[in-house]
Amino acid sequence: QLGPDSKLLDFLPVSLAEGNGAIPTVSPDYDYQVFIPWGDPIEPSGPAYQWPPSAEDQRLQIGIGHDGMTYFPMSADSESFDRREIYRNAVNYGSKHGMLCINHEFGTNPHVLGKDAPESIDDVRASQHAHGVSVLEVKRYGRQWRLVNSKNARRVHVNTPVRFSGPAAKSDLLKTPNGNIPLGTVNNCSNGETPWGTYLTCEENFNGYFGASNRESQWTPSKEQERYGFSENGFGYGWHVYDRRFDLSDADFTNEENRFGWVVEIDPFDGTQVPVKRTALGRIKHEGATVVEAGDGRVVVYMGDDQRFDYIYKFVSKDPWRQMRSEGRDPLDDGTLYVARFNEDGSGVWLPLDMSVPVLAENFASQEEILVFTRLAADKVGATPMDRPEWIAVAPNQDVYCTLTNNSQRTEATGANPLAPNPDGHIIRWRDTEQHSGKKFVWEVFLISEETHGTEQSFADPDGIWIDPDGRLFIQTDGGQKDGLNNQMLVVDTRTKEIRRLLTGVTGDEVTGIAVTPDRRTMFVNLQHPGNGDPSVTNFPAPLDGVTVPRDCTLILTRKDGGIIGS
Ligand code: FEO
Ligand code: CA
Ligand code: CA
Ligand code: CA
Repeated sequence: QLGPDSKLLDFLPVSLAEGNGAIPTVSPDYDYQVFIPWGDPIEPSGPAYQWPPSAEDQRLQIGIGHDGMTYFPMSADSESFDRREIYRNAVNYGSKHGMLCINHEFGTNPHVLGKDAPESIDDVRASQHAHGVSVLEVKRYGRQWRLVNSKNARRVHVNTPVRFSGPAAKSDLLKTPNGNIPLGTVNNCSNGETPWGTYLTCEENFNGYFGASNRESQWTPSKEQERYGFSENGFGYGWHVYDRRFDLSDADFTNEENRFGWVVEIDPFDGTQVPVKRTALGRIKHEGATVVEAGDGRVVVYMGDDQRFDYIYKFVSKDPWRQMRSEGRDPLDDGTLYVARFNEDGSGVWLPLDMSVPVLAENFASQEEILVFTRLAADKVGATPMDRPEWIAVAPNQDVYCTLTNNSQRTEATGANPLAPNPDGHIIRWRDTEQHSGKKFVWEVFLISEETHGTEQSFADPDGIWIDPDGRLFIQTDGGQKDGLNNQMLVVDTRTKEIRRLLTGVTGDEVTGIAVTPDRRTMFVNLQHPGNGDPSVTNFPAPLDGVTVPRDCTLILTRKDGGIIGS
């Protein structure tokens, strides 16, 4: 057990001068293994990597755009999975064999298809199958991790059947005139894990996959579509040209777009489970879903909506989660959704988003409508517009940390968003007055990226974060770093604010996603979009496996002396 004065960070950092390679640089005290690059089969028996992938192969291969992920230790009794028990009993338990769930956020057409736009429905399917989630069974042999054949390994992608649950599940706003069943998940960014051993994958920039062909009539966005950023060409994927589901001007598929923007629950231990979209958690550009058990046994989910001037949310279950589950109720289906207001005096309020609030009862027809158009509800109640809320992590002392990655368009500084403009971001922290389930909190700005520039601690655009049980905060970055650095992962002692750089990625990538084994001797970290997919920038990890196109992949970090990651 670590005392209050024990040293949390004891590794040799990656220096500024070393931090811009064509392959990753890790602390000299650490090793890494490249794992599960895009296009490898999800099981050893699956179709081998070929570029560009066929739609059929990609459906059975690792997706692209590696992002949030969770390692679920395999135990003899995964039915009674309890993450806290596993941490308490840590050591070797479940640290050599587990299920790894990993998000595949995005891949551009040139990178995935080898062309700027799809030319057939087959091309669209290849792109769609590259998105979503991989559920993998992983095992350690000596110092090497490998994928193993598994009855529960699977791909969840844009065409996988899913179902809706919770208060808006039966809403007409989630039905199309065509009557097609709900399918798929897309732009899966960050993640979460529940205390009952399931994976939460979060749909972020779903708007970009829709477009309007204007075949029948000219499409113009509704005020709701406008608030969620739908446009005629989206991000240029061109799916809507061949797949009517993504055509905003196709009257047969009205409301299809409302089926995205959710938190989706996946059971890693049941390959036949239909993924569940949890409507009680609202529809936003979900960055992540950080789950914590409140002091009173209820389950709380913290969530960021990653857009300039959007908000931070939390969901609190109605009753203690163990009680709800023992009564056959789902803790994520019944509770209250709140949005945060950060007052200038360092206090804060969680504002409920339901029909008990007069301004919402006046402006919305039902709770269903509030949950489908959550952003418009939050706009009405006085929530604080933030500088792009990304990941949220809870410290062992119950402080909650949130990265605010940047906001080049801020013109007015506030207490919680103190820079205008804010090109490099900051990290805020707060403490609930009632251990997560309360209506009030106190907050302070924890770190401002700009203040590190020109020093060995330099970083910008904080995005992925995780805090270990000793209070080490891991920061991953996504954006233009200063001082010649590639995107990177740093470790911070949350008591002293000491910062050390553990790893830098490769040119043109972002570093994102953290999963650890219960013994914390293995950490999985992702390099997303190395070289931005351009082989002339880097072909990493090609120097290791002999292919030419750069491939998103996972790095498995270990300490050379077998110690705890981050120490
Ligand atoms: Fe997908 Fe906001 O990062
Ligand atoms: Ca990303
Ligand atoms: Ca992110
Ligand atoms: Ca980001």
